[in-house]
Amino acid sequence: MISFDNVSKRYPNGYDALSQVNFSLKQGEMAFLTGHSGAGKSTLMKLIMLMERPTNGRVLVGDQDLATLGHRQIPYHRRRVGVVFQNHQLLFDRSVFDNIALPLRICGYDPDDAARRVRAALDKVGLLSKEK
Ligand SMILES: Nc1ncnc2c1ncn2[C@@H]1O[C@H](COP(=O)(O)OP(=O)(O)OP(=O)(O)O)[C@@H](O)[C@H]1O
Ligand SMILES: [Mg+2]
Repeated sequence: MISFDNVSKRYPNGYDALSQVNFSLKQGEMAFLTGHSGAGKSTLMKLIMLMERPTNGRVLVGDQDLATLGHRQIPYHRRRVGVVFQNHQLLFDRSVFDNIALPLRICGYDPDDAARRVRAALDKVGLLSKEK
């Protein structure tokens, strides 16, 4: 469950990117967020993954009020939120394989199981030959 309760976001330069946003998504529900460039789509996503904090209002993810999560809890919160970035966010100091394996390693997957999953994912998108 994800819900926004009267959420506003003003950036430090005074720009109001979001103003009193309300919505609620149930578990398993699929939604599309659309809008013109600058409408605030990325800002909304950043509030869900705690890359930004709202100026006002409440963001709930899985019944948890994100305002209650401190800096140290952010990495744990992000393990529950899958995000595919427009600008990929790959780490250049490691291979394709290691980039994909990293979240699995962090989550404590058995290395053999993780390797199997990484190769299956690469194979699915025709990139298995690029793993190194
Ligand atoms: N860090 C920031 N500081 C100040 N203003 C910002 C910041 N980030 C975004 N904005 C402004 O907030 C508004 C919303 O930006 P946002 O990136 O959320 O829009 P978007 O809907 O994702 O746009 P696009 O479709 O171009 O990705 C824009 O006017 C943008 O210039
Ligand atoms: Mg955007």
